[in-house]
Amino acid sequence: MTAIQQVTVQTLQDMKQAGEKIAMLTAYDYYTAQTLDQAGVDILLVGDTVGMAVAGHPTTIPVRLEHIIYHAEMVSRAVKRAMVVGDLPFLTYQVTIESAVQNAGRLMQDGKVHAVKLEGGRSMVPFIKHILRAGIPVMGHLGLTPQSVYRFGGFRVQGRDALSATKVREAALALQDAGCFAIVLEAIPADLAREVTQSLRIPTIGIGAGPHCDGQVLVTPDMLGMTGFSAKYIKHYANLKQVVHDAVSQYVREVKSGEYPTEKHAY
Ligand code: KIV
Repeated sequence: MTAIQQVTVQTLQDMKQAGEKIAMLTAYDYYTAQTLDQAGVDILLVGDTVGMAVAGHPTTIPVRLEHIIYHAEMVSRAVKRAMVVGDLPFLTYQVTIESAVQNAGRLMQDGKVHAVKLEGGRSMVPFIKHILRAGIPVMGHLGLTPQSVYRFGGFRVQGRDALSATKVREAALALQDAGCFAIVLEAIPADLAREVTQSLRIPTIGIGAGPHCDGQVLVTPDMLGMTGFSAKYIKHYANLKQVVHDAVSQYVREVKSGEYPTEKHAY
């Protein structure tokens, strides 16, 4: 039996160089993480989308560090191969350098993640450098950064005009120079994502950023059709909401009719 090779920062770098695409998905619980890992997903993100796709909030803003740690610990315990990345929630990394390093460290120590992700461009560079100095790998996140949804005035595509595109280009280089090992590009035009991807040594992971990034991420409950959320960039690989609805409806019918449980299910 050959030992399973854990995906590392170096693996992702090698994949970019070899032109091998990186498959990333979000995960928030033990058994889903185990299934995604066994299916070959390279990176599992314990995203602050847990606030939307699991807790049912309209944004990621209510998510706390404790929530991510709680979910990250389950995911990390389930995984054998994938890299586990934990999202730093709103206001856990932007306030002071000390709190950013401490919060990233807690996510790694208590949540057992292999790396953290944070949102934002140039202004995040000092925070990123200090987190890295503590030995914690950092993934960046540019474009539509959901923690800034109220500043953007909604979940809007970014980088459409020249000024905003320049900001994304420059921020990507700044994050690379600061030491990020990869950058999520969310909701930006495909041409801009291609340009940024070609300009970087580190991998880009797209979501709503077209086909030219080095990898792709989706929110798992969305792509499995569990949340009912649709957007142009999402491909639904299953309709689990319907599958669960049908199964549970049958269960309710059978319990009420006495069809289940039978003697077969009794001790
Ligand atoms: O929190 C999250 O799930 C994310 C992905 C959408 C990239 O940041």
